[in-house]
Amino acid sequence: MIDFSQIPKEEDKDKKSSQEKKSENSISFSSFPHQKASSGEGISFSKKEVITQASFSEKELLKAKEPYQQALAIAEKIIRGSFTSSELEEAKKIVEVFIDFTEKGEQELLSFVFSPYTPSVHYLSLSLVNVCILSLEVGWWLGLEKESLFKLGLASLLHDIGMSYFLELVDKPRKITISEYQAIKTHPEKGKSILKKNIQDIDEEVLLAIEEEHERLDGSGYPRGLKESEIIELAEIVGFIDVYEALTHKRPYRQALPPTGAIKVILSKKKSFSYKVGRAFLERIGLYPKGTLVELNTKEVGYVSKHNPKTPTSPWVRVLFDSQGEKLSKIKEIDLSKSPGVYIVKSKI
Ligand SMILES: [Fe+2]
Repeated sequence: MIDFSQIPKEEDKDKKSSQEKKSENSISFSSFPHQKASSGEGISFSKKEVITQASFSEKELLKAKEPYQQALAIAEKIIRGSFTSSELEEAKKIVEVFIDFTEKGEQELLSFVFSPYTPSVHYLSLSLVNVCILSLEVGWWLGLEKESLFKLGLASLLHDIGMSYFLELVDKPRKITISEYQAIKTHPEKGKSILKKNIQDIDEEVLLAIEEEHERLDGSGYPRGLKESEIIELAEIVGFIDVYEALTHKRPYRQALPPTGAIKVILSKKKSFSYKVGRAFLERIGLYPKGTLVELNTKEVGYVSKHNPKTPTSPWVRVLFDSQGEKLSKIKEIDLSKSPGVYIVKSKI
């Protein structure tokens, strides 16, 4: 369970880089109440465009774009029910590439994860790829061995394969009925059986993670209402990330929440989710992921250039517009963890 108000110290894992090993202290949410508005209202889009362009270099984005697009192509096959052994081999290669990005600490893929969905691709496919990228970041931070990390990548990329049964249903421009919802809740088991039937040598742990990703620690999940240690760790990670990713993106029936809003929703159901995973998420991705547009209490506007694993509410901010809304001729970078009295009041991804 997550208890963000009192997060104890925890031994770090050996696999983290020396720089990242500095994140030994408790996460402090003391500055969280400062976030008065999380909708990003009042931050103009023209500024957002300028800032988005500046947050990752073109070269960085180009490097990440190709594997992201390749992953989307596979995800479309997963969601549209045409996933066979040859696609599995492609999926494995993509997972290897994503792991490489994660291990090197290259977070360019996150700029795609936190972008609005591309209308030409099914939202479930985009979700699969995003959940895969974020799950690997968290799994790596938790110190998973390479083999487990690979299984996590594969399970997260495939986790909604069972939704291929219900695509017509979710695409209907109306609210689904209770009985339709009950049917959709069988998708984890359907996913497992599709893979078992179509692919001979798929790993059992990958199948279990797919089957259990909607289970919750307090027994409120489905399909079996498993609790606590009955749920495998890979499923706990995918489940947490799946909820976060869905909340931070638009769905046909609701608007997207900013990352802070998504974390607040998850906190309101903290008995359902793993504390360990939640903590790892905030340490690795942060409350304000890199590239998030922010307004400070000083009225200055900029974007998150780097997050501080020790203080997820106080990242580094690159200020581009002064308190009057004028573009700065020289970019100013502030480490909010070392700037008492300066804090984020609005954020927008
Ligand atoms: Fe699902």
